[in-house]
Amino acid sequence: MLKGKHIILGITGGIAAYKSASLLRLFIKAGAEVQVVMTPAAKEFITPVTLSALSGKPVVSEFFTANTGEWHSHVDLGLWADAMVIAPATASTIAKMAHGVADNMLVTTYLSAKAPVFVAPAMDLDMFAHPTTSRNLELLRSYGNRIIEPAAGELASHLIGKGRMEEPENIFKVLEAFFAGRDDLKGKKMLVTAGPTYEKIDPVRFIGNYSTGKMGYAIAEEAASRGAEVVLVSGPVDITPVNKSIRLVKVESAREMLAACEAEFPTCDYGVMCAAVADYAPAEYAESKIKRAGNEPPMIHLVKNPDIARTLGMKKRDGQKLAGFALETDHELDNAMAKLRSKNLDMIVLNSLRDKGAGFGTDTNKITIFTADGRETAFALKSKREVAADIIDTIITL
Ligand code: CTP
Repeated sequence: MLKGKHIILGITGGIAAYKSASLLRLFIKAGAEVQVVMTPAAKEFITPVTLSALSGKPVVSEFFTANTGEWHSHVDLGLWADAMVIAPATASTIAKMAHGVADNMLVTTYLSAKAPVFVAPAMDLDMFAHPTTSRNLELLRSYGNRIIEPAAGELASHLIGKGRMEEPENIFKVLEAFFAGRDDLKGKKMLVTAGPTYEKIDPVRFIGNYSTGKMGYAIAEEAASRGAEVVLVSGPVDITPVNKSIRLVKVESAREMLAACEAEFPTCDYGVMCAAVADYAPAEYAESKIKRAGNEPPMIHLVKNPDIARTLGMKKRDGQKLAGFALETDHELDNAMAKLRSKNLDMIVLNSLRDKGAGFGTDTNKITIFTADGRETAFALKSKREVAADIIDTIITL
């Protein structure tokens, strides 16, 4: 799977750097081409000579080679890579990556990288448990980076806890699985809607909701990694797709979302309606900011928004499959089944806000899928990416 793949191996200054040599050897043995990029501190822990001997390439660490003046282009490296792996990643490098502190070759390369980035943290248990580190890792995750969780065990400090870099064999397996991918959606086109919609009241206010887009983006990533051509029609969110093949169409209101979907759906095999579309929009948009004059609060008259899922459901051709979501707080089953029928969907994914870890903003979700042909499958609480895989595994059986 790794044969001919271009991997940047980023090494930072931690005791676990000695394990990077084993990881590098595994990559090379599997036929990958590896460019090692070290931070200055990493050289205190493992020598560049060892790593260049193993990789067959000079190690890059400085922006310039002092004696020749040759410039090392982090931009070219970022474009060259099929994946970047930072192992070990110290608390300091994680912080720099999270906040764009581009003061070394490794962080500039990270910022230029177009390929997926894998981060294997390694540090003492207290540093790992510190809220600063958790927050920085959370930020990296939200930018689409994949964190390879450290293991628990004896640390260099002889303390026992979580913070030990995952073993090279396991990091290698993560990369192997990533490159193996599945291509059961090759040749298929999928439309995914995600995020909230914003319905403008005046130049500074809107009606919206708490959707973060995480579930829809996870579905788009999963579908793209399985070979689908993906069009992601997204309301305003803070995430960007990682997979370069995903075509992102940014919209704001339900009407804009509908127009984008109507343009794309006719050529799609699948549609997954994950967006939390606002049901109503202000009847009129106030060109100037509504002032807080007088004592009477202003009246905002609402009009119904189009139902995007239903519009596509009514128009769908033979062979096109459409999935919707139902986020419910009560009468979950009845509401989900009613939506399945009224929107002419082929399946509906139910998440209940009563389940802990399900719904808006979380990284996990707990779903039950109902298909129009009468199947019902309840899944355990999983990461949104794993949930995305379950949804796609079901939609391809329809
Ligand atoms: N949906 C849509 N367009 C809308 C409203 C909903 O495409 N205007 C889609 C959602 O993306 C989701 C499904 O329809 O796939 C159900 O959304 P939900 O908000 O749960 O249902 P509603 O039909 O709006 O019903 P209610 O808000 O009354 O629960």
